[in-house]
Amino acid sequence: MPESLTPVDKRPPALTGVPETMLWPLFQRATESLRPDGVLRDPESVRIMRALDYDFVGHFGVPGGSLAARAAAIDRAIIAWLARHPAGQVVSLGEGLETQSRRVDNGRMRWLSVDLPESIALREAFLPPTDRFRHMAISALDPAWMAGLDAAEPIFIVAQGLLMYLPPEAVRGLFAGIAAGLPGATLVFDTVPPWLSRLTLRGLQQTPRYKLPPMPWGIARGDIARTLRRWCPGIGPVEFLSYALPRGVPGVLGQFMATAPMLRNQLPSLVLTSLAPAQA
Ligand SMILES: C[S@@+](CC[C@H](N)C(=O)[O-])C[C@H]1O[C@@H](n2cnc3c(N)ncnc32)[C@H](O)[C@@H]1O
Repeated sequence: MPESLTPVDKRPPALTGVPETMLWPLFQRATESLRPDGVLRDPESVRIMRALDYDFVGHFGVPGGSLAARAAAIDRAIIAWLARHPAGQVVSLGEGLETQSRRVDNGRMRWLSVDLPESIALREAFLPPTDRFRHMAISALDPAWMAGLDAAEPIFIVAQGLLMYLPPEAVRGLFAGIAAGLPGATLVFDTVPPWLSRLTLRGLQQTPRYKLPPMPWGIARGDIARTLRRWCPGIGPVEFLSYALPRGVPGVLGQFMATAPMLRNQLPSLVLTSLAPAQA
């Protein structure tokens, strides 16, 4: 995309509701990538952000970088996993305009992006699918995406910025379905705390111009491991990956809160776990 892009050349994303939320992490990754002290390098996000006709600051405010830090923490988990499984398959549920596959690519892994049809349509305008980077325009709640995977290779599933937008019963069904259909898979997902879920259900304005869609699934960090064990018997160790605002007083405060059990229940969480292997 040429640097001289004018607003006339740009494309409106034409998204509403939950699909529109994909523009927020895109904006954070791109702006973070443009900072000399940014927490990740993501030229593809910069390219896509510059090609969209959208008032990012007007909708989301000045970016703090926490969503870019979340993406960078997931990158590290995938890179570590790919070092053990170089031909592994990564599935990203609700992938939006995330360019994680390009950041972690080792040249051998395969990647499946699953998202709703309108979201995949926008993604394909910027990131056409290839043999190794495939797309499925389907709800993550439709188990049909599992059928497209190669049972011979290990699987890593990412659900970044997705589960909070689903009803709790749908989240339970998704976990149970993955546990049954893809035993042994590694899983990374993030959650929001109940107070934030409640605020969005009442109607939370991020800026005067933008109201967050409802996030019906909120869960305290202290409840995550036992909930997963109930939903997916035999699940492996549940690890919390740390990520925070990359800089400034709120970032330091977040890091402090993460050290105290009562306070960390009030924070979003990023979880790494693995599902029980198939029964012999
Ligand atoms: C906050 S965005 C996150 C996008 C991306 N994972 C990222 O971090 O940049 C939420 C995404 O979830 C997708 N989504 C919402 N409901 C979905 C569903 N039932 N199945 C698949 N994707 C869904 C939206 O289309 C959107 O792309």
